[in-house]
Amino acid sequence: MSSTDTGEKRIPLPVCDHQPTKYDGPSRDELLALRREYVNPGVLMYYKDPIAIVEGHMQYLWDDTGKQYLDGFAGIVSVSVGHCHPKITERIREQVGKLVHTTTIYLHPNIVEFCKALAERMPADSELKSTYVTNSGTDSNELAVHMARMHTGRHDVLTLRNCYHGGSQQTMSMTAVGTWKYPVMSAPGIKHVAPGYCYRCPFGLEYPSCDLKCATSVEDVIRYETSGEIAAFIGEPIQGVGGTVIPPKEYFGIVYDIVRKYGGLCIADEVQTGFGRTGEQYWGFENWGVVPDFVTMAKGIGNGAPLGACTTRPEIAEHMAKRLHFNTFGGNPVSVLSGMSVLEIVDEEDIQKQAREVGGHLKDALTALMDKHNLIGEVRGLGLMLGVELVKDRVSKEPAVAETASVVEKAKERGLLLGKGGYYGNVIRIKPPMCLTKDDCDFMADCLDVCIGEVAAGQ
Ligand SMILES: Cc1ncc(COP(=O)(O)O)c(C=O)c1O
Repeated sequence: MSSTDTGEKRIPLPVCDHQPTKYDGPSRDELLALRREYVNPGVLMYYKDPIAIVEGHMQYLWDDTGKQYLDGFAGIVSVSVGHCHPKITERIREQVGKLVHTTTIYLHPNIVEFCKALAERMPADSELKSTYVTNSGTDSNELAVHMARMHTGRHDVLTLRNCYHGGSQQTMSMTAVGTWKYPVMSAPGIKHVAPGYCYRCPFGLEYPSCDLKCATSVEDVIRYETSGEIAAFIGEPIQGVGGTVIPPKEYFGIVYDIVRKYGGLCIADEVQTGFGRTGEQYWGFENWGVVPDFVTMAKGIGNGAPLGACTTRPEIAEHMAKRLHFNTFGGNPVSVLSGMSVLEIVDEEDIQKQAREVGGHLKDALTALMDKHNLIGEVRGLGLMLGVELVKDRVSKEPAVAETASVVEKAKERGLLLGKGGYYGNVIRIKPPMCLTKDDCDFMADCLDVCIGEVAAGQ
């Protein structure tokens, strides 16, 4: 057991009954040396002093030395129901022993059962029932845009400033956070519109006297920057990479109406917000009372397995059958079995309720820290998708960039792994496996209390 031991009585990292196996592979330093030599330096890695994670169980991870961590970031929101969840591990072991891959050119029960289960979890009467299975969020968003263009016969796509949709040329062009873009030619036909980011309102206004200018301004972009005929709009119901940016509740309703008035289809990128994570609702878009024409997903749907999906209505999906299209690993029996298991476990273990209740408890605890720490500008998010934006000054809102990095480093030393995001990198992102408990949350809040306090004191 480790604890946030600073002399005061602090809440210890909850005890876990899982005994990690003894690791006898290369040490962290050896791994780092090999990586420097053979791995492309662009492969993203966290921490000034990187850690080697070699084992996981539910919400906990262990490094090569046997040190335990609480995972507050879930491999970037990719582990939904817990690391190595026993039900998934058992099923995958069995499947790997039987059949790993043949591609989709032959029938297999896992892919059809998974697609059926997804359709059953879409809003009633939405007709969102036809799924193309992929390997990633990038793949899924590419496909949604492609189908929207085929269906509408148009090209222009609207995306939100501060969004992230993937790393291919098309999805990097759709992405609108400069730090995630390279200075190479963007794909044509993409326009970025204002997000609903009240804390840093793009128009310098205040909700609700702003009259939702962020949303209504989308019409001006369509009128002035396109021919007035658009293919699609894509939006994350809560922006993840952009720093857990949650829009005013009316935002998506207004934008969807405008997009549809100009003939566009609406894509909800649920890569981070799906499968109960936002607590009140199964899908992120349901928090805003809208029904999209496409739902794209990845990350948590596979609980760590490479799995993505794009679900739409049959009349839109049928455009894919006009030409040949193929995704070699999309829909392989192992990944979709993991996805199928996630859908079942979210229901069986009441994960959505857990995200709502435990997430609410954590948000309250983090919000309470604002009384003590001026460095915290805002605590926001829903369920177990939370963000803490750090600022040097609450009036000027100057981003506390170095401070955020220090808090994340210090938390790691104390056994808590967190994410970082936002354009400036000043938002702490908390998106743990959804099996997190209230004790874990108390540890997390306590740990952040200490770390933020130390950073504010210049330590
Ligand atoms: C909202 C969102 N969409 C799409 C993607 C791209 O997913 P992938 O990395 O699986 O291609 C990400 C990845 O972070 C994401 O957060």
